Formats: sequence, structure tokens, C-alpha cells
Amino acid sequence: MIEEALKALRQGRLVMIYDGDGREAEVDYVVRADAVTPDLVHWLRKNAGGLLCFATTYQVGKALGLDFLSDLYKAKGFQTKAPYGDDPAFMGYVNHVKTKTGVRDVDKAVTINELARVVSLALKDPERAREEFVNNFYLPGHVPVLGGRIGARWGHTELSLILAQAAGLPPAVVIIEALGDSREAMSLAEAKRLADALGIPLLTGEEVKALA
Ligand code: 5RP
Ligand code: CA
Ligand code: ZN
Repeated sequence: MIEEALKALRQGRLVMIYDGDGREAEVDYVVRADAVTPDLVHWLRKNAGGLLCFATTYQVGKALGLDFLSDLYKAKGFQTKAPYGDDPAFMGYVNHVKTKTGVRDVDKAVTINELARVVSLALKDPERAREEFVNNFYLPGHVPVLGGRIGARWGHTELSLILAQAAGLPPAVVIIEALGDSREAMSLAEAKRLADALGIPLLTGEEVKALA
């Protein structure tokens, strides 16, 4: 299944990851950010239903000038930890300047594709990437940017980035929770049935952790 998942990710197809019983116990769809199209954003909005997020590493987020939002809120005395103990990975909400409102499927696809481009640039030339980011995006917008702390945190943010790394891809992926119709999160059993029906590889957090 791992090889199938790596192949799917490389080819721009969806993968699903279940984080684990002791954490959110949720399944997220994962796809490389440069393969995201308006049609895929539309499909994920209708069929996944969670919060569509762009994930990169914490280091890249920092290079672009972002900080963890939880640090800002903590400094103001707010609680930031989720009930399962993790600090959230959110580093900002952004729109690309070419978007109209930012919320539309076409707009989100543009923002995500352009974020992927700026992340690739950040890996080669962080200063230029930061300049491009500042000049071409505005905040707050409609695409959350998550910063992964690989090795220190084991959320979908990090699991999806570990998978991208293992696939030889840059740290630029899109993740979104599969919620289903129950008013709760989709169960692992239901996600497995769906993954089988759609031909999407589904991995557990433990399987992905082994790649780190
Ligand atoms: C953003 C989230 C989701 O849970 C997403 O899966 C990423 O977070 P995490 O790394 O905590 O799993 O909070 O919708
Ligand atoms: Ca979460
Ligand atoms: Zn999650």
C-alpha cells in the first residue's frame, strides 16, 4: 500500500491518511499542491467537506515570514491546545492577489498552485521567496497555511509532509478532512470502504511514521 500511495501522490492523485485512535481519529485526503485544479477543489468541497489546507514545513513557513498563530494567541492569554494535546499547525490564512474573493474553487486552486511555486522557490532562494510571497499574497485570506513540525508532532500536517518527502516531492501538499454524513468524522471503516470504491490508497499514521 505504501508504494501505491507514493505513486499516487507523485502522479497527482489523492491519498488518504488516518492519524490514529489516540489523536483526532480522522481521515484526511492528501494531494500534491501543484496538481490541484478548480475541479478537484470542487470535488473535495462536495465530497470531503472538511477544511481545505495547504501544508508545508514550519521552516518554510518561517522563511516566508509566517509564525504559528497559536504563539500569537498564547501571548494574549488564550488557550491554544486541542483536547488531544497538540498545538495547532496554522501559520496564516492567505489569498493570491490574482483571486477575486479567495473563497471560490477557482480562487483556491490559484492560491494553492502559487503557494506550491513559492515553496519550491523558498527551498532554493528563501529571500526571493519571501519577497514574492509578500508581493503576491494577501492576509488574512481563505487558504490556511499549516506548518509541519516533522519529528515533534504527528498530525495530518506532518504525516502528509513525511509522505511527500518519501515520494521525493517538495513540502507542498493540500489536506482536507473526510467528514461524511454522520455529523461526526468519517469512521475508519467507512473511509476504507470509500477508499476501496474510489481506488484511493489509505494509510495509517503508523505506516507513514515508519517512513520518517
Ligand atoms: C485543519 C486541521 C486538520 O486536523 C488537519 O488534519 C491538519 O491538522 P493536524 O496536523 O492537527 O492533523 O486541523 O483542518
Ligand atoms: Ca487538527
Ligand atoms: Zn488532522
